[in-house]
Amino acid sequence: MIRNSLTFQFLKNPFSVGAVCPSSPELAKEITTFAGLENASAIAELGPGTGALTGAILEKKNPKASFFAVELNLSVLETFRKKFPSVTVYNESAANLKEIARREKVEALDAVISGLPWAAFPAPLQDELLSAISSSLADHGCFSTFTYIHCPLLPAGRRFREKLSRYFPRVEVSSMVWKNLPPAFVYRCRKK
Ligand SMILES: C[S@@+](CC[C@H](N)C(=O)[O-])C[C@H]1O[C@@H](n2cnc3c(N)ncnc32)[C@H](O)[C@@H]1O
Repeated sequence: MIRNSLTFQFLKNPFSVGAVCPSSPELAKEITTFAGLENASAIAELGPGTGALTGAILEKKNPKASFFAVELNLSVLETFRKKFPSVTVYNESAANLKEIARREKVEALDAVISGLPWAAFPAPLQDELLSAISSSLADHGCFSTFTYIHCPLLPAGRRFREKLSRYFPRVEVSSMVWKNLPPAFVYRCRKK
């Protein structure tokens, strides 16, 4: 149904959805590479939307690993549930990540993959989310998130990049994924 597509929901809620269309398979591949998914016991995906990155996560993860997703928008979540009926998905803010992990009986996450639209978020929400992610991630864990080519030019995108380094002392930047609309790249972040 069109109502449950990412594009329709972007037109309705541009500041929380933050993307005109779902990520490409090429971006899904980039964000799941070097994320440590093969060896992870516990993985979370934040802001999966209609699931453009989820298939790549499921392909790479160990079948025994625990995996859940957190999506705020109920309409796209309906599409997600149809596509991935076996994945547990919480209709909440990713700011509740620590509490959700506790409900999943996960002490610390080994990998967090995020599709959250950081450059659309105000500073207090960026902090709330980064703090929840950092405190839910194991010391050896990896937090991977993408951003669009133009976002570092926007004040909120620049602010996000500065905050990333405050929460995660090690931040690597991938090469540009040109086959994505808009082109995007991945930040791979570690606490140590
Ligand atoms: C840019 S879209 C990415 C969708 C998908 N991961 C992709 O790559 O195509 C961002 C998604 O994050 C969700 N989102 C925004 N704020 C959120 C929050 N606080 N907690 C969980 N999900 C959120 C939006 O509803 C939307 O589905």
